[in-house]
Amino acid sequence: MLLLERAYAKVNLTLDVLERRPDGYHEVDMVMQSIDLSDLVWLERRSAPTIVLESNATYVPTDDRNLAVQAAQVFLQETGIVAGVHINLEKNIPVAAGLAGGSSDAAATLRGMNRLFNTGLTLDELAEMGAKIGSDVPFCVYGGTAIARGRGERLTRIDHRCHMYVLLIHPRVFVSTADIYQGLNPSDFTDEPLSTRMVQALLEEQVDVIPGLVDNRLQPVTFAMYPEVQQLSEKVEMVTRHPVHMSGSGPTLFLLAPTIQQANRMYNALRGIMRDVYFSQFVGTVSSLANLQSRPE
Ligand code: C5P
Repeated sequence: MLLLERAYAKVNLTLDVLERRPDGYHEVDMVMQSIDLSDLVWLERRSAPTIVLESNATYVPTDDRNLAVQAAQVFLQETGIVAGVHINLEKNIPVAAGLAGGSSDAAATLRGMNRLFNTGLTLDELAEMGAKIGSDVPFCVYGGTAIARGRGERLTRIDHRCHMYVLLIHPRVFVSTADIYQGLNPSDFTDEPLSTRMVQALLEEQVDVIPGLVDNRLQPVTFAMYPEVQQLSEKVEMVTRHPVHMSGSGPTLFLLAPTIQQANRMYNALRGIMRDVYFSQFVGTVSSLANLQSRPE
């Protein structure tokens, strides 16, 4: 039986850093939003107790540096199942890009293995497993919208009806999340996170206000380390005359548009002058995307 799980990318609508923790992580407060740009994770059970990963992308590791392989390892360990899995990863989300592509592949692997092996674990239980793999994995297990606190694994899920289009521009720079967090100064920390205002705007569907509320405390660090990303951001802003944002630790830049007409205008203007522009949109939780809930044949 071959089983498919979609792994959705995310953007950060806000990202505030509160403090550096003794364990080396940072206490964050961020609003995460799933978008429909996705990888496809195909899973097949193997009787041999080994995990094999293949991918259409030659640049992703196929060994246990890959978060999907780590997810399969954690799943088999925690459930005590003696079997293996074959993972075929169809990559569409740029890697090391601030879009949680690797984390989402891991989350999809957990959801998919739960179906493949009929283990009946809840999303909460899968999210707990996900926290062992990476800070963004729990959010990716559910998808949709959430405020993420702690190191990113403590979630308050937000159910809003606000729909927006998202244009992504990937600057073809690979950024290490650890390096960016390391580059923060104490003056970058805040105790007044912007998530409350953002969530209010989402709940009230203030689509014209939301682009102006997007903010990311890691952006100045990434821009300082990679001036070419800042230059690209300025160019995008000049061409579109709209505020440009960065997702996660970057380097992916994004713009939000409330209507498809505005999104199309921005997309066409950008496509004429740069590569790696993606057209996407907000999506809800994985449970609200009905086709994913169907049991395998
Ligand atoms: O949790 P994850 O493995 O995705 O994090 C990658 C790195 O990013 C961590 O090793 C840490 O250096 C940094 N990080 C952090 N604070 C967070 C999340 C990540 O300092 N809240």
